[in-house]
Amino acid sequence: MQESTRFEGSVALVTGANRGIGRAVTEALLERGAKKVYATARDVQTVEALRERHGERVVPLRLDVTDAEQVAAVARTATDVDVLVNNAGAFEPTDLADEAIVEVARREMEVNYFGALRMLHAFRDTLVRHRGTLVYIGSAAGLTNVPLQPTYSASKAAQHSLTQASRASLAGRGVSVHGVYPGPVDTDMTKDLPAAFTKTPAPAVAHAILDGIEAGEEDVFPDPFAVAFGGQFRSSPKSVEKQMAALVTSPA
Ligand SMILES: NC(=O)c1ccc[n+]([C@@H]2O[C@H](COP(=O)([O-])OP(=O)(O)OC[C@H]3O[C@@H](n4cnc5c(N)ncnc54)[C@H](OP(=O)(O)O)[C@@H]3O)[C@@H](O)[C@H]2O)c1
Repeated sequence: MQESTRFEGSVALVTGANRGIGRAVTEALLERGAKKVYATARDVQTVEALRERHGERVVPLRLDVTDAEQVAAVARTATDVDVLVNNAGAFEPTDLADEAIVEVARREMEVNYFGALRMLHAFRDTLVRHRGTLVYIGSAAGLTNVPLQPTYSASKAAQHSLTQASRASLAGRGVSVHGVYPGPVDTDMTKDLPAAFTKTPAPAVAHAILDGIEAGEEDVFPDPFAVAFGGQFRSSPKSVEKQMAALVTSPA
C-alpha cells in the first residue's frame, strides 16, 4: 500500500488529456475538487472544450511526450504539480509477420516507455518537493503479452518495469507511485477490438482509477475485466499467458 492521496485541492497534470481515458481522468479529478489540472495535449486546441466546460481550473498546455524540449518546457511551467498522470499512449495494430514491425514497435516504445520516462525525469524533483503522487496508466497487456497486440504489450511491459523502478526510487522520498492495469476500455484505441471483448466506459474507469489511488492501492485494476485478470494473474501468471495465446487462434 502507498500513502493515500486526496485529490481535493491538488494540482494535477495529465498527458493525453484531450480524449479517451486521459480526458475522463481530467474530468474526474475536477469533479473531486482538484484546484488545477494541466490538461496537456499534442494539439492544444483539442483541450479547449475542457477549458470552456470547467473554466480556469483547466490549464491547457502543448505537450508531445516524444519531444524532449516540450517536456522540459512543461516541467519549467508546471512547478506546482503534485499529481502526475502519465496517460499518453500509442497502439498500432500489427503482428509478428509484419514487414514494418520494428518501426511499429519503436513508435509505440517512444510514447509508452520513453515518453513516460522523460516525464518522470522532468517531474521527479517537483514530485519529491510536494510529496506527490505519480500515476502510470499501464495495461493488463503489460503484465502478460497479448499476442493480438505483441509490440504494444512489450511497450507496456517496459512501462510496468518503469513503474516498479519509480516506486523503488521514490517511495522512500514521500512520493506515492501507482500502476494502473486496465482491460478493454471504450476509447478510440479499441475501436477495432473484436466484439467478444466487453469494453468499459472511460468515465467509469477514470473514477475507479481515482478510487484505487485514494485507497492507497499500488496496483489498480479499474474495470471488471482487469479485476478478473488481476486475480488470475496473481495466482497463476502462466495460465494467463496460455489464455492470451489461445486468443490468437480463437479470437471469438
Ligand atoms: N483503451 C483501452 O482499452 C486501454 C486499455 C489499457 C490501457 N490503456 C492505456 O490508456 C492510455 C489512454 O488510452 P486511450 O484508450 O484513452 O487511447 P486513445 O483514445 O487512443 O488516446 C490516446 C491519447 O494519447 C495521446 N498521445 C498519443 N501519442 C502521444 C504523444 N506522443 N504525446 C502526447 N500524447 C500522445 C493521444 O493524443 P492525440 O489525440 O494527439 O493523438 C490521446 O490523447 C494509454 O496509455 C493506453 O495504452 C488503454
